[in-house]
Amino acid sequence: MPRLDRRRVCRPDAPWEGRVSVSVTVHVNGAAHAVDADPDTPLLWVLRDIIGLTGTKFGCGVGLCGACTVWIDGKPARSCARSLESVGAGAVTTIESVGDSRQGAAVQRAWLDAQVVQCGYCQSGQIMSAAALIAKTPAPSDADIDAAMSGNVCRCGTYPRIRAAIHAAAAEFALLPVHGGGLPKGRRG
Ligand code: FES
Ligand code: FES
Repeated sequence: MPRLDRRRVCRPDAPWEGRVSVSVTVHVNGAAHAVDADPDTPLLWVLRDIIGLTGTKFGCGVGLCGACTVWIDGKPARSCARSLESVGAGAVTTIESVGDSRQGAAVQRAWLDAQVVQCGYCQSGQIMSAAALIAKTPAPSDADIDAAMSGNVCRCGTYPRIRAAIHAAAAEFALLPVHGGGLPKGRRG
């Protein structure tokens, strides 16, 4: 019996598959990865299928839900909507290493304390967006949070706990020593 290709079910129109591959180096979480792939391959699939970092999730595949959020050069980006070619020499940070940053560590602690997670599927993207918000806006208002997080959808409706956890993380972040955690390995200063 043929095996079900779950990836193809999730993305039946994967135009990059079967096309000419090129060898490129992608920088993820502080490590350089040599990758053979079509330049149009979404970064999400490079992370998950080629490099094996499956913490970043596939949701909508068209840049609308935020489940696939990573950082590129410290800024949140939808990895399903960024081609491998467009990343270039950018430094990619994923959920697997965001805790190496001060803001990422503060957010992850606050997430645990507030027990934010329900099913968990959206939460990698939520944490990546939340940590980027705190790095940019250390004391965010509710309006700041709503604006920054509006593109991250949670089907379980954890939004009140997300907002509370971001406030808690921001309060902790303000108290952390500047050199207490350092930048994530993939982020340039
Ligand atoms: S999977 Fe990328 S935004 Fe939904
Ligand atoms: S925790 Fe289930 S989708 Fe967000």
